[in-house]
Amino acid sequence: MKNIVLTLAAMLLPLSGWAQDHQLDINLKKAGAPIPSTLYGIFFEDINYAADGGLYAELVKNRSFEFPNDALQGWKAFGKVEVRNDGPFERNPHYVRLQEPGHPQRWTGLDNEGFFGIGVEEGKAYRFSVWARVPDGGASTLRVELANTASMGENHFLCQENLTVTGKEWKKYQLILHPAQTLDKSILRIFLIGERNTIDLEHVSLFPVDTWMGHVNGLRKDLAQALADLKPGIFRFPGGCIVEGTDLVTRYNWKNSVGPVENRPLNENRWEFSFPSRFYPDYYQSYGLGFYEFFQLSEEIGSEPLPILSCGLACQFQNDDEKAHCPVAELQPFIQDALDLIEFANGDVTTPWGKVRAEMGHPTPFNMKYIGIGNEQWDAVYPEHLEPFVKAIRAAHPEIKIVGSSGPNSEGEQFDYLWQEMRRLKADLVDEHFYRPYEWFLAQGARYDNYERKGPKVFAGEYACHANGKKWNHFYASLLEAAFMTGIERNADMVEMATYAPLFAHVEGWQWRPDLIWYDNLRSFRTVSWHVQQLYGKYRGSNCLSLTMNGANVTGAEGQDGLFASAVLDGEKVYVKVVNTTGKDQDITFTFTGLKKKALVNAGEGIRLSSGESELYKDNSLDAPVLFQPTPFSFEGEGKSISATAQSYSFSIFTFVVK
Ligand code: AHR
Repeated sequence: MKNIVLTLAAMLLPLSGWAQDHQLDINLKKAGAPIPSTLYGIFFEDINYAADGGLYAELVKNRSFEFPNDALQGWKAFGKVEVRNDGPFERNPHYVRLQEPGHPQRWTGLDNEGFFGIGVEEGKAYRFSVWARVPDGGASTLRVELANTASMGENHFLCQENLTVTGKEWKKYQLILHPAQTLDKSILRIFLIGERNTIDLEHVSLFPVDTWMGHVNGLRKDLAQALADLKPGIFRFPGGCIVEGTDLVTRYNWKNSVGPVENRPLNENRWEFSFPSRFYPDYYQSYGLGFYEFFQLSEEIGSEPLPILSCGLACQFQNDDEKAHCPVAELQPFIQDALDLIEFANGDVTTPWGKVRAEMGHPTPFNMKYIGIGNEQWDAVYPEHLEPFVKAIRAAHPEIKIVGSSGPNSEGEQFDYLWQEMRRLKADLVDEHFYRPYEWFLAQGARYDNYERKGPKVFAGEYACHANGKKWNHFYASLLEAAFMTGIERNADMVEMATYAPLFAHVEGWQWRPDLIWYDNLRSFRTVSWHVQQLYGKYRGSNCLSLTMNGANVTGAEGQDGLFASAVLDGEKVYVKVVNTTGKDQDITFTFTGLKKKALVNAGEGIRLSSGESELYKDNSLDAPVLFQPTPFSFEGEGKSISATAQSYSFSIFTFVVK
């Protein structure tokens, strides 16, 4: 009996192991809609210590002694240190005075803790700079060290240099430090030596010399490179909720973020106390990474800049009281900010704001084409606030495309209402946000297939798969983002841009996850979601192609076995993206129609991201940065029909060459 059962099972096995073939029909007769160069981009917000402590390479926290609760927050003062407030920079008036400590065996100085420590590397150079004076005239000498206060060695310092300051006038001084050791959590120590004459110090700064593109007020190279490697078509900044602020006073004020860094006033970061479970009382914006730097970075990485400005509404999540917002009748200064920003970005050097840009080092315009007004706003107050902006921008700059918002919801009454209002106001694009769970992403493959084509285009401005109970980066969530993005690609005539969010997170300072790129003080890693974005950007193609299974778009719909797919043309190449969201390998036959006479399709190379069942909820990490990365694979075939396999839990790009 046992033998009969085994024989039957053996006979049935080939049947049960036989996977159903899925025929994907790709029509090459006519190239579809052009794919906008802006389709895949990046969204930057100073959340999770993305700017100070992250992309902005400054290593000193509270460099201008302006933190409002404690001017010495981030510093440890010893000896005779006094905070004063009549310094040389009007908008950052505080500075410190260091005096002789009163005994030969006592010392006066300061330690700075940096952002979760100061990360330095052996063999690299660090530029220390400070504004200083000797108020009584003459000279005074400082010792400047990078130190490891946890060291068991004879010395704390990793390197030290002396800096002599002369005269009563404020001047900028600098020196280069070369740490003898790599350390992720060093401190900066400065103290009086020699005669120990009184000295005043302001804007104490430390940057790696080797920044992105070598800029002195520069960006962390590995993080900027991770952005450049995405080849993003659009770069949205500076947020996010920080555009709005916890209150209007603390909204992101772009005018405060340009001009000499020493005089850019500090701003509270809206993410300081957003979550009672994760407080960051030292989270401020130095504005060292400001609008000039954002535009400059856009240019350097080949993206169109997309600034988002406040529409006069403070963050609606944090403010129920209508008094928190600017009344419509008083919006003129906000509108002027938007008009001035266009002048700052695009104006001639003879215009007041064009001149500011030129003085900062960029006389040629940045050629900005888009502006967003308002972040995640809702209710009638939003269109009421937006309307006067639209009128003013259209009148002065009809060439600029205006981005409005559909609020924080991915669908529903408010979403529909705001879309309708954006149509009424003739916004060029509508910024949709969706941080949604697995089921949502699995169900949204066809989201844009039936969007009304007349009117504004879509900017999928913030999205990420947030699994209930698994709100961290992991492969499966990224896979569903890849699945969803087939629908973005198929509808590239409707979706003009899409940006995953948030972009950056410091492992010791995050408020929100998942995020695209993580780092500590010295290392960083790119998540699976980063690789998904990168693959879409790299294989963007020039035009959509029709791809169907049994006459229907492949959107993970019922009967489609968890498959999502889209196809694009790129010269003589065709890229077919297939996402298999299931745990079983699936056979696919790619069938090409609409070929010119004598034309043949050849299988080219393939590339894929895939995961086994056991690693589905994992991602890359600082210790294992390449646990997941795209792997090339080969598949073969020639003719009008070519077969291949879509591996279980995989995002694959099949390249075909049409000759
Ligand atoms: O990306 C994080 C936040 O999510 C953004 O600041 C906001 O726009 C959205 O609510």
